[in-house]
Amino acid sequence: MVTIPTVKLNDGTDFPELGLGTYGLRGAEGVASVVSAIETGYRLLDTAVNYENEREVGEAVRTSGVDRAELLITTKIPGRDHGYDEAIRSTTTSLAVTGLDYLDLSLIHWPNPSVGKYVETWRAMIDLRERRAVRSIGVSNFTEPMLRRLLDETGVVPSVNQVELHPYFPQAALRAFHAEHGIRTESWSPLARRSELLQEQLLIELAEVNGVTPTQVVLRWHVQLGSTPIPKSADPERQRENADVFDFELTDDEVSAISALERGRLWDGDPNTHEEM
Ligand SMILES: NC(=O)c1ccc[n+]([C@@H]2O[C@H](COP(=O)([O-])OP(=O)(O)OC[C@H]3O[C@@H](n4cnc5c(N)ncnc54)[C@H](OP(=O)(O)O)[C@@H]3O)[C@@H](O)[C@H]2O)c1
Repeated sequence: MVTIPTVKLNDGTDFPELGLGTYGLRGAEGVASVVSAIETGYRLLDTAVNYENEREVGEAVRTSGVDRAELLITTKIPGRDHGYDEAIRSTTTSLAVTGLDYLDLSLIHWPNPSVGKYVETWRAMIDLRERRAVRSIGVSNFTEPMLRRLLDETGVVPSVNQVELHPYFPQAALRAFHAEHGIRTESWSPLARRSELLQEQLLIELAEVNGVTPTQVVLRWHVQLGSTPIPKSADPERQRENADVFDFELTDDEVSAISALERGRLWDGDPNTHEEM
């Protein structure tokens, strides 16, 4: 079994340096994939109302045999549930669907600025954390001005901001803002959904030099940037490969060379304009 180290969030929670993405893991096969990840050593599981697999993730938690207290389950409030009462209801429903007594981390999935309700939604999440329905609260796809608005209007700093982040889009400015304010960065699509990233000559060479795979080089790069990647894999062997990145180290020059692959967002997901319900 792989041991995945943790870092402290700004609320004191021990948060894994790598987790499992679960988008697309559904049905009995989805449950089996999440169970295999837990058996491999994954402790952070990333679901969302909109992935329609909260039930599968809850079932995997119960069948894994691992103590619930050791696992961290993230879910996300969808755009259609923005608003104070709606966010409370959304979380109550997530608890019922997962069958869990509490959620470890709840995120606002997308800010949907044209709807204008993310601050109100955030106020509900602050209350949900006080009631202990949710242990940690954060956001996803928030820009620096949006984070500043939460801070200015509520005084409560998110523990996490989960954003698109991979070697083609390293998000240096946003990560610097997170570091300044004690917000943990989480990388979604950390492998750039496989795309052509894993064929990059630089990654193939660094993999050879370090005796690992290109995927492991990319995930180690996330870890050394101080961001928690949540690679999704349905396959037990690839899950193990992805988690096994804690016994080698890239040099600072290697980290910089990987960051220089930057070319921008891959999927048009600019949070100022891209909205999801
Ligand atoms: N907050 C948001 O708005 C947001 C948006 C997108 C995603 N997410 C979260 O981030 C998670 C990860 O992102 P993602 O699923 O889009 O992309 P990803 O993790 O970058 O890539 C997943 C793809 O890579 C393949 N893969 C995984 N490990 C591999 C390996 N070792 N070698 C070769 N191929 C490998 C997977 O196939 P196999 O399954 O066959 O291994 C799958 O096709 C999602 O599952 C979701 O939880 C959040």
